[in-house]
Amino acid sequence: MITFFTPGSRSNISRIGFLLLFLSFIFTQCKEGKIKDNPSQSSGLISDSAMVVCARPEASAIGIQIMKKGGNAFDAMIATDLALTVSYPFAGNIGGGGFMVYRTHDGKVGALDYREKAPMAASRNMYLDASGNIIPGKSTLGAMAVGVPGTVAGLFKVYKKFGSLPFKELIQPAIDLAKRGVVLTKKQARRFNYYRKYFDQVNDHKIIFDKEWHAGDTIKFPALAKTFERIRDNGRDEFYRGKTADMIAAFVQKHHGIITREDLARYEAKWRKPIVFNYKNAKIISMSPPSSGGICVAEILNAIEPFPVASYGHNSTKYIQLLTEAERRAFADRSFFLGDPDFEKIPIDTLISPAYANRRMADFSWKKATPSSTVKHGNIIGYESMETTHYSIVDKQGNAIAVTTTLNGAYGCKLYVGKGGFFLNNEMDDFSSKPGVPNQFGLVGAEANSIKPEKRMLSSMTPTIVEKNGQLYMVVGSPGGSTIITSVVQAFLNVYEFGMSMQQAVDMPRFHSQWLPDDIKMEPGGFSLAVQDSLKQLGYAIDTTNAPVIGKVDAILRLPDGKLEGGADHRGDDKAVGY
Ligand code: DON
Repeated sequence: MITFFTPGSRSNISRIGFLLLFLSFIFTQCKEGKIKDNPSQSSGLISDSAMVVCARPEASAIGIQIMKKGGNAFDAMIATDLALTVSYPFAGNIGGGGFMVYRTHDGKVGALDYREKAPMAASRNMYLDASGNIIPGKSTLGAMAVGVPGTVAGLFKVYKKFGSLPFKELIQPAIDLAKRGVVLTKKQARRFNYYRKYFDQVNDHKIIFDKEWHAGDTIKFPALAKTFERIRDNGRDEFYRGKTADMIAAFVQKHHGIITREDLARYEAKWRKPIVFNYKNAKIISMSPPSSGGICVAEILNAIEPFPVASYGHNSTKYIQLLTEAERRAFADRSFFLGDPDFEKIPIDTLISPAYANRRMADFSWKKATPSSTVKHGNIIGYESMETTHYSIVDKQGNAIAVTTTLNGAYGCKLYVGKGGFFLNNEMDDFSSKPGVPNQFGLVGAEANSIKPEKRMLSSMTPTIVEKNGQLYMVVGSPGGSTIITSVVQAFLNVYEFGMSMQQAVDMPRFHSQWLPDDIKMEPGGFSLAVQDSLKQLGYAIDTTNAPVIGKVDAILRLPDGKLEGGADHRGDDKAVGY
């Protein structure tokens, strides 16, 4: 019998647990001095030709190794992604999904959606009890939380269109890494030990992580190596129709979930048209629905564009106020309009237009905060035909890739397909289980994001590429649920408006606001009391205790001389590798 209390469930117990986890993170972050009042003055790694920035040094090195062998950025993406599945099981995955935005060396742009989808047996009220209340934990922990995984389909879709080296050469480094094992960092050991109780709670078998871990220990992944070997030998169908598909369906059903072989066989990754818009002289290319990322970033940047942002000063009262007001309006729209475009009509062109943003900001006043209770979604007349990891890659030809991929919560739903060697996602929690009730990121949804069979749940993932003067300028993205959007906006503005290096832009303390809850979350220790007080006087609620880290941005900036600068977020063990 499973009892549900986990970070991410909606019960009070879970909230207390989550708070305690956050507080312990705050303590360790402050002790380790990771969030600084002043960012480093230095730049990040500078490379002449090619770069990978991701959550694990092993995976960045593997991506670079592929490019040194002659592979392009897309080959490197496949190898890096698979290497993250081994070295970063917290979020790297084959049991989850993600999004990719690309810009080729000759300026062509595109976006790939390999988001999970609801199983065919899913239904609107599947997470509600007989009284219509949310059943705590059902959408976050265990087999009912799992969406049909998209990652393997996504990687093969990329390979088919852009791959240049033989696929077996792209997957082999991950196989070798899984056999050789990964040496744990302090952060990884701490996480495994923290989540052990949840692994025990949901899995009917002992999983390989089920022991006390220490920094420096090595974990080997023999079952995952075998799964990769089968995928190497049998291709995409191995995961969706072969032995691995049998394994997943049987495993999920044994744990009382509803994913079937047919769900897997019917899964498809989809090419989407990215969201493209201009901010001053920059052209931003970002992820389209079923992610809300690109639309929200467009709404926020369009709303602030008419203002002399740089003149306010970085992280000043005026800057934070302006961005917060733009963010709350964008998130109110997210909640109402956005969902899976294959199921819902989304007025994308209007939402991303500067004229709409100006209308939305018409009631903004410097004199006082606009309470979120008075901010509703915008009016649109007539509809037009709406724990995660990010990595950024640029190759020597100038092809650029931004990928954000996730299991949703840390280690997904905590179910580990023991025979296959991988975790399964809990992406179903990204649907709106009940209108008006927040999910684990405090996001409130509406009809557009209701559960339907085979529908994709709305995401905040925001893999983004920026062009300036017709040339590649920045590749950027972040994990962090709803804070992904605001982290990407700030990393971009830190460089574009405030002239920081990419590394400084990533290091800088961040804040976050999302309509509901009606507050501004700030990384502790990063914002002066004077700024906090002046915002409070204007009517803003400031929360510096619940968001010890906001986002974990991994980015690449193309410098005026054509070299690349990496920004690897020190909030994690992230690393830029280049040549
Ligand atoms: O797609 C989304 O928006 C979420 N599933 C992302 C989850 C996430 O970023 C968790 N990481 N901190």
